[in-house]
Amino acid sequence: MPTHFSQSSSSLSTFAPRLLDWFAENGRHDLPWQQHQTDTPNPYVVWLSEVMLQQTQVTTVLPYFARFMESFPSVQDLAAAEWDLVAEHWAGLGYYARARNLHKGAKQLAEIIDEAGDFPQTLAGWEAISGVGPSTAGAIMAMGLHKYGVICDGNVKRVLTRWAAIEGDITKSDTTKTLWALAERLTPADHSGLFAQAMMDMGATLCTRSKPACLLCPLQEDCLAHAQRRETDYPVKAKKQPKPSKFSDALLIENENGEILWLQRPDNGIWGGLWSLPLQFVEKVDGKANNKATGKTTANKSAMSDDKSSSLASGVRSNEKVYETEFTTAEQIIHEWLDKHNVIAAPINQTLIDDAPIKHSLTHFHWYLTPRSVTLDNKQITALSTALQAAEINLHWLTADDARATLGLPRAMVKILER
Ligand code: ADE
Ligand code: SF4
Repeated sequence: MPTHFSQSSSSLSTFAPRLLDWFAENGRHDLPWQQHQTDTPNPYVVWLSEVMLQQTQVTTVLPYFARFMESFPSVQDLAAAEWDLVAEHWAGLGYYARARNLHKGAKQLAEIIDEAGDFPQTLAGWEAISGVGPSTAGAIMAMGLHKYGVICDGNVKRVLTRWAAIEGDITKSDTTKTLWALAERLTPADHSGLFAQAMMDMGATLCTRSKPACLLCPLQEDCLAHAQRRETDYPVKAKKQPKPSKFSDALLIENENGEILWLQRPDNGIWGGLWSLPLQFVEKVDGKANNKATGKTTANKSAMSDDKSSSLASGVRSNEKVYETEFTTAEQIIHEWLDKHNVIAAPINQTLIDDAPIKHSLTHFHWYLTPRSVTLDNKQITALSTALQAAEINLHWLTADDARATLGLPRAMVKILER
């Protein structure tokens, strides 16, 4: 088997001890989810933190992790919580599918514990939990249960492709198989949890994406990428297709007290359960932005469309596809109401030269959000509120500050309020 790898068997055998020595001296030992200093590890803590850390950095995760542990100290607490509350705790971390999977996973785990009396104890048992892939399952086995587990996440792949000069595209399955085989070969039978934590630390603090600190690295002497001074040529990764773009107006509908209308997003869809300004989808045609469904284009409206298309032109490449979306029920009601009453929202900072939309990137598309504001009088507010309440829409009228303080807002909404 070792001949299969580009490293000698003595290099393969000394990898773990070198890494563990480095970790003991220089690794992080005070992260709140770490369980290597206890004899009775808590798999809930490791599962929760690993899901949070899947696409997000340690420094960002820390305060979120603390709030989750305070509100949901056990997996049963998380399983029993309302989705709204979970979504609120997640607001701002991004990749909301993770939060949904987390909540679903908590329910699965609580049920397993009810029946079997304990958390899953096998790799397959963990892989069956919503949102847990092979590397997360390996991390939980190793760090959360102190059993044998192997990790091979993005950080590990970067370290290993460099150390062993693996040229294959890491998005291809045969490269993935090679990397997993190498990770398994390197993971010591004892202390696989320490090894996993050490690999994560190494990848995050030394073998970083753009400026690896090779001089401090315990793998430097036989690192093949370093020997060639080609560290940043690895990992090889096929260019992703450009994400499609989507354009929306974000409406700041204000009453005479300076309060703004906030809507709770439906559970199924982007930002499910979080609170958002009403959004109005804008269809982009031939480089120009046209407000969808509003056939009735006033002079004012078309003037706005024109300057929007010029500001979009700078941010959007012509090969980007437009991402189609739907109005929520509430947004449809608002759209029709504003249209019927001939109310047009103005760009929020008309007087500034820079009225470019806010660019927010989600998993599957870039979202260009243009804030627009409109103030309605009391009579109009009552009419609009009545229309929304008739459709049983959850809404709040809150100032920007109060909304930030009391509602779970997605990052994009915070960006708009900071404008
Ligand atoms: N990234 C993913 N898991 C991690 C962990 N346990 N510690 C630090 N960074 C991580
Ligand atoms: Fe990464 Fe440099 Fe260490 Fe090689 S020597 S593993 S490139 S930090």
